[in-house]
Amino acid sequence: MGKIFDFFEKDHREIDSLFLDLRFKALAEYRDTFEEYDQRLERHIVWEETILFPALAEKNPMFKEGPIRVMLIEHKEIRQEKAAIIQALKKADLAGAKTHEKALASVLSHHNAKEEQVLYPACDRFLGDKDIESVFLKIGT
Ligand SMILES: [Fe+2]
Ligand SMILES: [Fe+2]
Repeated sequence: MGKIFDFFEKDHREIDSLFLDLRFKALAEYRDTFEEYDQRLERHIVWEETILFPALAEKNPMFKEGPIRVMLIEHKEIRQEKAAIIQALKKADLAGAKTHEKALASVLSHHNAKEEQVLYPACDRFLGDKDIESVFLKIGT
């Protein structure tokens, strides 16, 4: 579809597949997989918040108060659910972790769909080749 869409959508799918791996894990393995999942998801969110969304906001300020603001609120919810899972795992409470895992899945599915349908295509439409190059340079690819 576009360079930004392709890269970020692929990252969503890779992070999703780690998430799906959690399903049948016992506590010790769940902890390891969740740690990897958390690192990948956090890296993705930081790329969006510090590199991608500011680049889009600069090109098209209308996005800043609308879609980007909503994405940032949802990132907060995602981080709250992640933190709750980490807390549950610290107490060896796998059932508690699973409850927050469901809540996280629900926030993420809507969130990722909006990014893939609105935000990423807008980035590909409004950012020029140089801006896109600079996004990938900052991401380090
Ligand atoms: Fe996001
Ligand atoms: Fe995303």
